[in-house]
Amino acid sequence: MGKVLVLNGPNLGQLGSREPEVYGTQDLAALRELIVAEDSGLDIDLRQTDSEAELIGWLHEAKQSSASVILNPAAFTHYSYALRDAVAMFTAAGHILVEIHISNPYSREEFRHNSVISGVSTGVIAGFGFDSYLLALELIRRRLG
Ligand code: DQA
Repeated sequence: MGKVLVLNGPNLGQLGSREPEVYGTQDLAALRELIVAEDSGLDIDLRQTDSEAELIGWLHEAKQSSASVILNPAAFTHYSYALRDAVAMFTAAGHILVEIHISNPYSREEFRHNSVISGVSTGVIAGFGFDSYLLALELIRRRLG
């Protein structure tokens, strides 16, 4: 069974109460349930951290265990070169990493229009709420096919 790490960056632990008009009213536990309900046949591990170091450590772990990754880098998207380097190392090793966003950053403030992660990701899905995760999961399932 293919392993998939679903990694979430800072402030995503507050989903449900965080700016519900932007991110919706469902929390991470609801997302976990949605993903499990997909019954994708994949071994899925959903995590969240506010720490850049921890997120980078999880990418190193994913590389080590040849997992695929769905990554919502949250605000790190826009400025973390350290995270970018970890993603680049991971995808250069031939693994799939889908960058996802719940909102569409391009329809929001200008600082959100730039992602330092997208250029080293396998691909990007943004703007579909929690469906962004489910679309990424389907994509990984097909690629691992
Ligand atoms: C986000 C978009 C980012 O700009 C923001 O900093 C987040 C969440 C999203 O999922 O829409 O924390 O990644």
